[in-house]
Amino acid sequence: MTGFPLILGIESSCDETAVALVRGDRTIVAQAVASQDAAHRPFGGVVPEIAARAHVEVLTPMIERVLADGGVTLGEVDAIAATAGPGLIGGVMVGLVTGKALAFAANKPLLAINHLEGHALSPRLVDPELAFPYLLLLVSGGHCQLLAVDGVARYRRLATTIDDAAGEAFDKVAKLLGLGFPGGPAVEAAARSGDAARFKLPRPLLGSPEPHFSFAGLKSAVLRARDALPALTATDAADLAAGFQAAVVDCLLDRTVRAMARMPEATALVVAGGVAANGAIRSALTGLATSRGLPFIAPPLWLCTDNAAMIAWAGAERLALGLVDGLDAVARPRWPLDPAAEPVRGAGVKA
Ligand code: KG4
Ligand code: ZN
Repeated sequence: MTGFPLILGIESSCDETAVALVRGDRTIVAQAVASQDAAHRPFGGVVPEIAARAHVEVLTPMIERVLADGGVTLGEVDAIAATAGPGLIGGVMVGLVTGKALAFAANKPLLAINHLEGHALSPRLVDPELAFPYLLLLVSGGHCQLLAVDGVARYRRLATTIDDAAGEAFDKVAKLLGLGFPGGPAVEAAARSGDAARFKLPRPLLGSPEPHFSFAGLKSAVLRARDALPALTATDAADLAAGFQAAVVDCLLDRTVRAMARMPEATALVVAGGVAANGAIRSALTGLATSRGLPFIAPPLWLCTDNAAMIAWAGAERLALGLVDGLDAVARPRWPLDPAAEPVRGAGVKA
């Protein structure tokens, strides 16, 4: 290995198939992401069996293409990083076994990556200045957590959701407002023209001492408000979307403030995960961080949603510490980042 190592990253834990080549100096040499949205849209959500089959179809040609785009051969790659969980187990197995086969065939080290660690470290891929420890709000389709990121492989969970994840709530609300799939971007777009004050919606757990989250009651309140209408017009849907999004913003802010009080040593407030693509959430968090004199770091949108560059980068960070895995690494549908955190009810497998 000369200079910075070149890592091939593979991501297949949900409904994106992704491959990336990332160098240890943060150069993204090549990458590709194939979304399966069209395949899942008729079902209004991700169907695990369809997802796994689509990964089988797409992954290997995508690896060939990314290597060709990067102008490198497998022999020139220094390590293989593949998501080993948490996620939909069929898809995780497709990516992990493919990564193992490549590592075995080319005699390269394997890095079995926790998808959540990929999200957690992703801001460091684009921001070399971001130092540990930082407070991370990880908001995605399957997770809603506040984590103290003390270092690579050193995470403390300060809070999690007791029922739905934030992205899951966006997706469910989009469905019940007839806004389509995937829900987050659809709700955000509808909310732009909506009146957030028209419907009085609850802010679950607001002000409670533990910084945990809850969104199930908010989603049910949207459902009740919808059912109380004579018919759901486009204006009604926009107003409900705006009201829902405003409630989510309030909850995320209040909970983050609580977590900040528990982590005075944090050097920055960082947001990651698919929901971090939401403009209203980003601007509210920017305001909060600024008011506390902390830098606010959010990865670019393409790095917020599932991708393989974050997996390759987590691999680079782990490789630098010698944290490599054996070819017997297991695929895990559930895999908490903080093994000491007490399990709580809720949150699906989507990360
Ligand atoms: O991290 P991610 O790509 O996949 C995993 O969950 O692993 O996150 C996807 C989630 C979905 O629930 C999607 O609706 C949500 O992120 N999302 C958004 C936005 N874009 C994506 N939620 C709110 N506003 C958005 N603009
Ligand atoms: Zn994710």
